Amino acid sequence: ALISLRQLLDHAAEHGYGVPAFNINSMEQLLAIMHAARRTDAPVIVQASRGARAYAGDLMLRRMVEAAVEMFPEIPVCLHQDHGNSPATCLSAIQHGFTSVMMDGSLEEDAKTPAAYDYNVAVTRNVVELAHAVGVSVEGELGCLGSLESGQGETEDGHGAEGRLERSQLLTDPDEAAAFVAATKVDALAVAIGTSHGAYKFSRRPTGDILAMDVVKAIHAKLPNTHLVMHGSSSVPQELQDIFNEAGGEMPQTWGVPVEEIREGIRFGVRKVNIDTDCRIAMAGQIRKVAREKRGEFDPRNFMKPAMAALEKLCAERFEQFGTAGHA
Ligand code: G3H
Ligand code: 13P
Ligand code: NA
Ligand code: ZN
Repeated sequence: ALISLRQLLDHAAEHGYGVPAFNINSMEQLLAIMHAARRTDAPVIVQASRGARAYAGDLMLRRMVEAAVEMFPEIPVCLHQDHGNSPATCLSAIQHGFTSVMMDGSLEEDAKTPAAYDYNVAVTRNVVELAHAVGVSVEGELGCLGSLESGQGETEDGHGAEGRLERSQLLTDPDEAAAFVAATKVDALAVAIGTSHGAYKFSRRPTGDILAMDVVKAIHAKLPNTHLVMHGSSSVPQELQDIFNEAGGEMPQTWGVPVEEIREGIRFGVRKVNIDTDCRIAMAGQIRKVAREKRGEFDPRNFMKPAMAALEKLCAERFEQFGTAGHA
């Protein structure tokens, strides 16, 4: 059945597990995720970005997810709007059957000005009122996703005197988080702890100075009953980088968020873990491999089948690692 994020994350909190939220744009991605969920008996969060909605079309996405729910009747599925940039985006998602929306009021955030915080509270509160009236959940975000190594927030550039944000300007402030949740009544809160979107998060295996798991713990101490969300949580496994590069790809050496750190977060209130980049690299590596090894191949299914198998394997691993397995 289709369920809300709140229903799923309340269950996850009660039983101490986390749920990966995988981005989808296509039938192949959705099927691979669902097969992994069936294999591990895990509930599912699939999320669509604005780009995904434009790529597949709202009606196609909705009908695809409805079909998945019918094909896999034993698996609870939450359909979530990833990084909604406005109330209008969130409302059109709700009209198209999404059971959860992210109102990302931090996208507009200009470092940490009082006006930016007030805007974020107002716009998030507005979406919560509308969404809750129809049983849809809301994720908010406070803080600025972005690298502590470069000091660049994702929506910023050329900030501050040296064009660099301080650690305290990028990371979510625990006291502010408590005030934000009280003011907005969000169902889940995305926190900024030094992760960023995409493949190039860290230039070395991250340690506490660049991946601030201590901030997760401090926020959880203030908000023990709030479901926390980690964005930018691909692990960018070495194995997937190697497959991609051995098949002729050119991906410079990079480091993501180690699964062990995510598991530590799950012990401290993290319930939703956003993963897109790992899924992309898993699929793209196999597509490259077929293109390189079978130069006469032109049936797209013979590119997509190994890509789907690699994605299914990745998703099943995360369901096991985050403790989602067995909870469908
Ligand atoms: O937040 C970023 C997600 O990885 C979605 O990316 O906007 O390219 O679909 P996208
Ligand atoms: P990654 O780029 O690390 O997969 O993060 C995805 C994400 O946060 C989507 O909202
Ligand atoms: Na999201
Ligand atoms: Zn994100």
